[in-house]
Amino acid sequence: MLQKMDEIFDDFQTKLQNLTKQADVLSLKSSVIGKKGSLAEILKSLKDATPEQRKEIGPKSNQIKQDIEKNIMAKLQEIELKEVNAKLAESKLDFSLVDSVKDLGLQAGGLHPVSQIQREIEDIFVSMGFDVLDGPHIEDDFHNFEALNIPDTHPARDMQDTFWFKDMEHLLRTHTSTIQVRGMQSRKPPFKFVGPGKVFRCERTDATHEMCFHQLEGMMVGKDITVGNLIYFMKTLLKEIFKKDMEVRLRPGYFPFVEPGFELDIRWKKPGKGESKHSGWLELLPCGMVHPNVLRAGGIDPEEYNGFAFGLGLDRLVMVKYMIEDIRHLHSGDLRFNKQFKAY
Ligand code: DAH
Repeated sequence: MLQKMDEIFDDFQTKLQNLTKQADVLSLKSSVIGKKGSLAEILKSLKDATPEQRKEIGPKSNQIKQDIEKNIMAKLQEIELKEVNAKLAESKLDFSLVDSVKDLGLQAGGLHPVSQIQREIEDIFVSMGFDVLDGPHIEDDFHNFEALNIPDTHPARDMQDTFWFKDMEHLLRTHTSTIQVRGMQSRKPPFKFVGPGKVFRCERTDATHEMCFHQLEGMMVGKDITVGNLIYFMKTLLKEIFKKDMEVRLRPGYFPFVEPGFELDIRWKKPGKGESKHSGWLELLPCGMVHPNVLRAGGIDPEEYNGFAFGLGLDRLVMVKYMIEDIRHLHSGDLRFNKQFKAY
């Protein structure tokens, strides 16, 4: 019997070597150590063995069972590995890249400076009770012009070179003031919100102009809102951004959607440089008291409510804050530039 058991084991090993499929391995296993397997078959004649023989046969059969289990496990793993490698060889993924990335060391990403400043400003306004609204990039004539008191014939339409769609009804929004219209339509006064986002203009690019840039619109509507309220919020914003009180001045500025309209300038001095051309007033924040026609287009009675609005250029602010001389760096995708602003 002992000899037969050895034969069974040898036979099992030879057969196992040639198998390449998991299913075949499993059926070989049950044909040997299964309930009706060859080992069980032999053990049936255990009753005819002498007590001494039994003492040997018992442990031996257990040993063989264990060895077979081990061999089966190893074989199944070997087959699985081969299958995975075959699949990887077929796939188009380039795993050599993993090694070259390892060579560079682990690199974590960071937020773009415009995203950073946008989030910072959103937080400042949220802390002052403003909502943060979003609006679509693709707009229509009504939201971009008409509702903002810029009618078809108005010369102000020339101020913004617009990317029109072929239907001449849709366009890429030229400013985030569109969010004012959507904000007014979706809520009842009093309210205050900001709306950040990308805007698009068909411009020739140079150091201070890009076709796609970022603005943050703001609007507050309520009863008896004054220019004093506007200045308060703007000064608070600037103090938070620049971490100090900023000297500001208001100049008259023309925008069809506000009356009166202003340009808010900040007193600016390049760090390290003396007074001279490196310091002076910097135009930063166009704003004004919302025009009654705009309130009306947003479904608000201008006899009862009034408000202020502003449009902050986020790229400009980043450029001032970090002294970047060319707006085109912001969209260049150049990692050498982006890495300087890493923040988590
Ligand atoms: N929408 C204007 C632009 O893109 C900026 C602006 C000016 C927004 C005055 C305002 C505002 O809300 O009151 O040039």
